[in-house]
Amino acid sequence: MTKGDIIVGLDIGTSSVRTIIGELDGQNVNIIGVGTAKSVGIKKGAIIDIDAMVAATKSSIEHAERMVGISIHAAYVGVSGAHIGLHPSHGIVAVSTSDHEIGDVDVERVIEAARVMNLPNEREIIDVVPRQFTVDGLTEVADPRGMIGVRLEVDSYVVTGSRTVLHNLLRCVERSGLEVAGMVLLPLASADMVLTQDEKKLGVVLVDFGAGSVGISIFQNGMLEQFDAVPIGGDSVTNDITIGLQCGTEVAESIKHRYGVADVTMAKEQEKFKISRTGSSMDKECTTIELANIIEPRMREIFALVRQRVERLGYGKGLSGGYVLTGGGMLLKGADKLAEQEFEAPVRVAIPDYVGVRDPSYVGCVGMIKYVSRFYSRVIEVSNSAPVRRMRTDRKTWERIRNWFSDFL
Ligand SMILES: Nc1ncnc2c1ncn2[C@@H]1O[C@H](COP(=O)(O)OP(=O)(O)OP(=O)(O)O)[C@@H](O)[C@H]1O
Ligand SMILES: [Mg+2]
Repeated sequence: MTKGDIIVGLDIGTSSVRTIIGELDGQNVNIIGVGTAKSVGIKKGAIIDIDAMVAATKSSIEHAERMVGISIHAAYVGVSGAHIGLHPSHGIVAVSTSDHEIGDVDVERVIEAARVMNLPNEREIIDVVPRQFTVDGLTEVADPRGMIGVRLEVDSYVVTGSRTVLHNLLRCVERSGLEVAGMVLLPLASADMVLTQDEKKLGVVLVDFGAGSVGISIFQNGMLEQFDAVPIGGDSVTNDITIGLQCGTEVAESIKHRYGVADVTMAKEQEKFKISRTGSSMDKECTTIELANIIEPRMREIFALVRQRVERLGYGKGLSGGYVLTGGGMLLKGADKLAEQEFEAPVRVAIPDYVGVRDPSYVGCVGMIKYVSRFYSRVIEVSNSAPVRRMRTDRKTWERIRNWFSDFL
């Protein structure tokens, strides 16, 4: 690692586009630039209006650039949402060297072999993540390199996404003037930042409560075992407010942030606020209890759906690490307590420990910077007014594999 190398992460979410610029300082990463812009033209994490989204993405990038005084031309792009799927796969190769000692090349070849699988036409491969290797029938090998063998196998999972959703996402980044340095699965990036090794080993549910969907990632035995998503999120809560209080979306969103609570028992009768209603020139006075009566059932429904999905994935008895919650939806007051009731398990809200991004909605994007600094290696130069900076980009597969190993051991 070189001091001064920079990494740029882009999280194009349903409610906001976030750009984070991180600078490497030895083993640490410092967040030096942050840019946000309101998303327009995106529904449930999928871009439906590229032109509108390009403008929002450009604005977010420019914010971050201005903060640091550099011009960026490549970024890692976070991928998440209900379209993501994990498919188990298996690869087998014959060890290529004459002395049968397994090397980086063999590991890379076997992972390539695991990529080969029958996928429907509309699915695109994002990544292949190894679970365990087998050398001549010896299973549960974490790192086969240096071992002697004839046959090398890998059990892995192939991460796929919807071709259309990914195409639109990458098109949007490119049209915003940035080269896509790589795609990063946001749950893996978030986990890298907010989960402990023990939690990942014993089992934990990582929940990303976004605007358009709630991502559910199950980590066990040190790795991501399952991913699923509930296709509703904070936007549904806002939508309920627009109907219940007969107001516009912007008004509903702002009163949710200011006066919203997840649990009616937290609301006070005497606490009142005024809202401008659609189709009326008269403001209406509402109590926080009225508002909470709209918010609570939807929040309960979302948490109940999350629990159902976790149970359906085969983790009915829960996982000893409980639930770790991220995403902007967790900024709603009392959301953690409500989650605890619905999950009947320990919960904690994870927040990045960096100035300027101490907000659970930044976990994925900040996590991406950390994740990339560990798993990706090459650097290219970045044009700027300050001393020469280099941008980390372009992954080297074997370098990433080496780091996966250090995680599993
Ligand atoms: N202070 C707050 N109080 C209540 N809700 C909030 C608050 N701040 C943000 N939210 C909600 O959090 C949600 C946005 O979360 P986040 O930024 O993680 O979503 P996103 O990444 O843009 O969307 P997605 O991941 O679904 O594509 C919105 O529904 C927003 O209303
Ligand atoms: Mg998100």
